Amino acid sequence: MSYLIKDITNLVTCRNLTGIPKKGKGQSDIGLIKNGNVFIDNGKIEFTGNSLSLKKFLKNKNISYEIIDGKNKTVMPGFIDSHTHLVFAGSRSDEYEMRIKGSSYEEIAKAGGGISSTVKNVRKESKDVLIKLAEKRLKNFIKYGTTTLEAKSGYGLDFKNEIKMLEVINELNEKNKYNIDILPTFLGAHSVPKEITKNEYIDLICYQLIPYIAKNKLAKFQDVFCEKNYFDAKETERILSTGAKFGLIPKLHSDQFNSIGGVDVAIKLNAISIDHLEVLKSNDIKKLKNTNIIATLLPGASYFLDVPYQPARELINNNVPVALATDFNPGSCMTENLQIIMSLASLKLKMSAEEIINAVTINAAYALFMQNKIGSIEKGKQADVLIFDFPSYKDLIYHFAVNQIENVFKKGKKLKI
Ligand code: NIG
Ligand code: FE
Repeated sequence: MSYLIKDITNLVTCRNLTGIPKKGKGQSDIGLIKNGNVFIDNGKIEFTGNSLSLKKFLKNKNISYEIIDGKNKTVMPGFIDSHTHLVFAGSRSDEYEMRIKGSSYEEIAKAGGGISSTVKNVRKESKDVLIKLAEKRLKNFIKYGTTTLEAKSGYGLDFKNEIKMLEVINELNEKNKYNIDILPTFLGAHSVPKEITKNEYIDLICYQLIPYIAKNKLAKFQDVFCEKNYFDAKETERILSTGAKFGLIPKLHSDQFNSIGGVDVAIKLNAISIDHLEVLKSNDIKKLKNTNIIATLLPGASYFLDVPYQPARELINNNVPVALATDFNPGSCMTENLQIIMSLASLKLKMSAEEIINAVTINAAYALFMQNKIGSIEKGKQADVLIFDFPSYKDLIYHFAVNQIENVFKKGKKLKI
């Protein structure tokens, strides 16, 4: 099926003229076309532009297509959630209640809760159960406009269960069965399992897991939780540089609770993104300047854990490209809704609507090395497109906590949501 979305009051293209992530003042450039048009054919964007150029384009078009009226609507690229822990089992609502009563995330982790409680549940479950659980969550992601997401392992923490998680992620992505693209990340270094020492576990990651994952193409990225009581900067560097030799692209969880040198490792290894950054220091922001490493901010985790928010303004002022993601996981951010994250980015990070929109589209595409395929509405790109029932893109941020999506197109297919 082909579609013409016509007379769109606000067509937000997020087009990328520079060939690099949007940063500094450029983070606000959303490529707005007023009263624009989009033609979707064969799963791809075939045309974007004003009514005059549309006429010319349609002259040579001899195929049938459905016309969708875009009057009083806003059209945007499908959202990209570049940091999630999609696959897990069990609930941590008890911990959530402990936190409300005053315990901290770190205290709960020390007392045997946190990541290790999810590890117990994931190890118990079969692949089929994990797939069923994730399936439900994928429907929520799509409903709120996410058309591509990244998903991490990290709740297996041994050979069998880390591989099981990655196989689940790959199966969920296969043949686009759920109408959403899922990019796998190996996060074996999420925590240290109880049964072996940290050094033994790092050896297992470097000598067994990474080679196996690379050989079987189970992950595109790798990630480490660079944090006090988890993995220090040296250990992070050893793990990520080993993975890089095997072709895994480095990402980091860094500066969430403590600043322990993650930024230096990210720069040294040319990581594609550095994520979290709640306690990022000014001198580290200066170091990130001009590196094009994407700072992926996760204000949902700050909200859910009630800890400080990320220094988005200082990052943007220093020319660091910013992306936003949910960090969806059972412990520190239990929501699939990227729109809520955008509201937090506005109120708590003081980002503008334009900066936020680029942060969940083209910059998030860069954070997943998918910038040539998705993240903007441009000729030749995959037709991942959202139609909203409001005339101004600013309403996406202003009219908060109500989902005003009317249509989601994934690879040119109009989805039932
Ligand atoms: O990104 N900080 C480390 N990892 C996750 C939380 C995982 C969990 O609590 O289960 C995060 O916040
Ligand atoms: Fe995370």
